Amino acid sequence: MMNHSQSTGADYNYTIVRQFALTTVLWGIFGMAVGVFIAAQLIWPQLNFDTPWLTFSRLRPLHTNAVIFAFGTSALFATSYYVVQRTCQVRLFAPKLAAFTFWGWQAVIIAAAITLPLGITQSKEYAELEWPIDIAIAIIWVSYAIVFFGTIAKRTTSHIYVANWFFGAFIITVAVLHIVNSMAVPVSLFKSYSLYSGAVDAMVQWWYGHNAVGFLLTAGFLGMMYYFVPKQAGRPVYSYRLSIVHFWALIALYIWAGPHHLHYTALPDWTQSLGMVMSLILFAPSWGGMINGIMTLSGAWHKLRTDPILRFLVVSLSFYGMSTFEGPMMAIKTVNALSHYTDWTIGHVHSGALGWVAMVSIGSLYHLIPILFGHGRMYSSKLVNVHFWLATIGTVLYIVSMWISGVMQGLMWRAVNADGTLTYSFVESLEASYPFYFVRFIGGCFFLTGMFLMAYNVIKTVKAPKDSLPAIAEA
Ligand code: HEM
Ligand code: HEM
Repeated sequence: MMNHSQSTGADYNYTIVRQFALTTVLWGIFGMAVGVFIAAQLIWPQLNFDTPWLTFSRLRPLHTNAVIFAFGTSALFATSYYVVQRTCQVRLFAPKLAAFTFWGWQAVIIAAAITLPLGITQSKEYAELEWPIDIAIAIIWVSYAIVFFGTIAKRTTSHIYVANWFFGAFIITVAVLHIVNSMAVPVSLFKSYSLYSGAVDAMVQWWYGHNAVGFLLTAGFLGMMYYFVPKQAGRPVYSYRLSIVHFWALIALYIWAGPHHLHYTALPDWTQSLGMVMSLILFAPSWGGMINGIMTLSGAWHKLRTDPILRFLVVSLSFYGMSTFEGPMMAIKTVNALSHYTDWTIGHVHSGALGWVAMVSIGSLYHLIPILFGHGRMYSSKLVNVHFWLATIGTVLYIVSMWISGVMQGLMWRAVNADGTLTYSFVESLEASYPFYFVRFIGGCFFLTGMFLMAYNVIKTVKAPKDSLPAIAEA
């Protein structure tokens, strides 16, 4: 793949990459801490302290916005700005505009962290922020596109490495999704009404929502995978041809799958069936990509024994495979009739979010941070290993508990007695869910503890004197 030597950053713009890399850790801790807190509220509701801005309903969107747009998107900014420079062998285009994307994005995050607990919201999932913030996001995102594609345009290499294709698709699609779905008529500074109504509104919202999953939580992170897995394994990507087929198949299919979020609703039945079929086909490119990533380790499997960073990356791919097997299953209408509204969905979300998105980001950052600060390795490889186990065990506790409680809820809700009455009341199903909520809470604590270890390790690495952390020679 790339044959240039590891640079200390003299010839690339690493300032912006460093800023986004460090804020990824910070926002990761914040977003996950809110996640642990709302997980606790589901067991102990009195934790809202009778304060409106501490209620579950307001903190839940704060959690989703913080983990997706502050943590996940910062990781994508950091890695895309790094990868595009390294693979195009050129400095970032428009450095001032790049700096604007960093400060602008921090301002958006802070605006979200203030307005969401105050209850200022458009009430569209993953698109809650009110119109002034939406406009700011659109401006920053277009600036991001100019910096990214400007850098590609002035590249000194002849071809465009596949990671950039994924990052590029993610940047363009998110811009389109955000602008179309956020169309609204403002009535005051903090209130607006969507341009769409009824079933059309629902369709546009889940065209947006599902493709936010497909392009932000998937395509962008696949860009990360295509650069950092080969780099960390020290092997070229398993099949370049497969990566191109993977790319086109994935982006051609994802865009049609949104209606699987709206089974059995007022949406025309044929759109629901189309969404289901496209979701089933989506299984193939998803697994093609996962296999391409995992097989990149051919000839380097032994490194898994000693390299916890590689473990993060490979386990993230396994969770990617798991969630993209589960997703198409849940898209089947009869399966969705059981899973929808239950914790099964929450389990699926976090097998993608914790297992895939968070773990591939963490692995990539552990590769990236020493390079950005002129070191050969992280301060403590042991702590990276402990983090790996905390993250893996935390994710497994989270998703297994949600699977069990989800299927249990679905079965309890549909159980009927011989005379046609419901066997269980809703409260009985809630009561039965408590033990699983507790296991999820413990899983979240594990994952969050790992993030604190990461923060400590990162601070120690950043502050380490020059030449004190040389790369460990390969066995
Ligand atoms: C310590 C880690 C985490 C914990 C404890 C946690 C906890 C939670 C809880 C309790 C909910 C609400 C579930 C419900 O309404 O029943 C939730 C929702 C959600 N979380 Fe997390 N979370 C964590 C990490 C993450 C990460 C890293 C991401 C994304 C990258 C994420 C994405 C989401 C999404 C998208 C939802 C909404 C799901 C839906 O509406 O179906 N979470 N989380
Ligand atoms: C082939 C890939 C995938 C397919 C076909 C798929 C399909 C589905 C289905 C059918 C649902 C349930 C909809 C409902 O009943 O409301 C769902 C929910 C969800 N999935 Fe996936 N999924 C896939 C991969 C992923 C991945 C990799 C992630 C990454 C994090 C993810 C994140 C989510 C989220 C956040 C939701 C909850 C949306 C909400 O209701 O708030 N999915 N997915």
